[in-house]
Amino acid sequence: MGRLLLPVLVLAFLSGGPAQAADGPPGGPPGASSCTGCHAPMKVTDSVIPRIAGRKAADIVTFMREYRSGAWPSSVMGRIAKGFSDPEIDAIAAWFAVQPE
Ligand code: HEC
Repeated sequence: MGRLLLPVLVLAFLSGGPAQAADGPPGGPPGASSCTGCHAPMKVTDSVIPRIAGRKAADIVTFMREYRSGAWPSSVMGRIAKGFSDPEIDAIAAWFAVQPE
């Protein structure tokens, strides 16, 4: 129990805190807060998850469409991308693009 709980708490702290401090609407457009749980807005140097804050919106949109269609292989993003419509992806990508890198 204790062995599992601590890393979970640390992760929740790392991803939850800085998201609130970012510019713009807290948490961004609908759905964006489900991304920052993994794609933390702050630098986590030992993370295997690529950073997307500050990336070009068009790049994020392209990735999401390819994950969704299965054209681009992924471990988790394919399943996640299927839950988002094109307008939702556009809004989320635009928000990530203006977040500080
Ligand atoms: C469960 C954790 C998790 C969540 C939630 C998540 N991602 Fe990802 N994301 C990943 C991982 C891991 C990868 C690497 C590809 C893979 O293995 O699926 C990735 C890759 C990406 C990439 C490609 C970046 C690159 O340079 O290769 C983009 C863009 C991206 N995610 C956008 C999003 C968006 C937008 C959301 C919210 C709708 C989101 N992700 C939610 C874990 C997550």
